[in-house]
Amino acid sequence: MQQLPLHPQGPTFSRIIAGAWRWKLSASSVERLIQTSLAEGITTFDHADIYGDHSNEEIFGEVLRQQPALRDKMQLVTKCGIKFQSDKRPKTWVKHYDTSKEHIVWSADNSLRMLNTDRLDLLLIHRPDPLLNPHDVAEAFTKLKEQGKVLHFGVSNFTRPQFYMLQKFLPMPLVTNQIEISLARVDPFFNGDLDLLMEHRASAMAWSPLAGGKLMAGERELFSKASQYNATYTQLLLAWLLVHPSSIFPVIGTTQPERIAEAAKALEVHLDKQDWFEMLQWATGKEVA
Ligand SMILES: NC(=O)c1ccc[n+]([C@@H]2O[C@H](COP(=O)([O-])OP(=O)(O)OC[C@H]3O[C@@H](n4cnc5c(N)ncnc54)[C@H](OP(=O)(O)O)[C@@H]3O)[C@@H](O)[C@H]2O)c1
Repeated sequence: MQQLPLHPQGPTFSRIIAGAWRWKLSASSVERLIQTSLAEGITTFDHADIYGDHSNEEIFGEVLRQQPALRDKMQLVTKCGIKFQSDKRPKTWVKHYDTSKEHIVWSADNSLRMLNTDRLDLLLIHRPDPLLNPHDVAEAFTKLKEQGKVLHFGVSNFTRPQFYMLQKFLPMPLVTNQIEISLARVDPFFNGDLDLLMEHRASAMAWSPLAGGKLMAGERELFSKASQYNATYTQLLLAWLLVHPSSIFPVIGTTQPERIAEAAKALEVHLDKQDWFEMLQWATGKEVA
């Protein structure tokens, strides 16, 4: 598995990342997913404070508590900024965003505790907050960095102006924008999202790279194309993302160890340019102009 810097100033991540959103499982099942990922060279794990109704970080952290040596073999990403009604958050009565300095610092500290770790490799603001105050975010990020609790910072689901504006106020680079990209969500190839990241020497993390397991347009043709490459459907869809010169890092979401091993082999599929465009055409239903 290729390891690549997300940004020239780091962090270095595995090219395919394992996402823990759907990992509301027993600690032993999560341990199996972690061990399979590591064995395949997938060393980066993507979390959020809210995944599994605020449970998934803790389950993952239980595995790290039992096997602390695993921590140095992996990189941990988590997110903050979304609040919703939950028995675990009784003071929240309406879904909202909170990117105040106090909440970002509190949430990072809480994630460190839940994950049983002394550092986060990357912390993301989960969604753009209409009330985001960039001075507040800059203070929170600076404090967490100075304390050595968070090594790198980024955002998720930000529009280009939102990314650009926040970066202007920060003393450190935003190393990624984690956005939805797949053959079912091709806009970032055309709307400037990936161009902006390239301008900032940052790479995208692509969430739901298999469209959450939904069937896609051109399904029959995709299976036939996959067999031409001696690849599976999953490997073809991931290989399609890996081609882009901005170095997209797909964040896969499977809960099945065999599918992690399958996805890791996507790096062995080298797509011809014409096949890339043919797949795009199946997705959009039209030729490029
Ligand atoms: N930043 C954000 O706002 C945001 C939003 C959403 C997700 N994420 C991140 O992105 C990660 C991945 O998202 P995702 O889970 O939607 O990714 P995904 O890899 O596109 O979808 C995973 C889903 O597809 C199913 N699947 C995979 N291969 C399949 C196959 N061959 N046939 C049928 N179903 C198949 C999986 O089921 P099985 O478990 O049975 O394999 C799972 O339910 C999340 O874990 C999270 O870390 C971030």
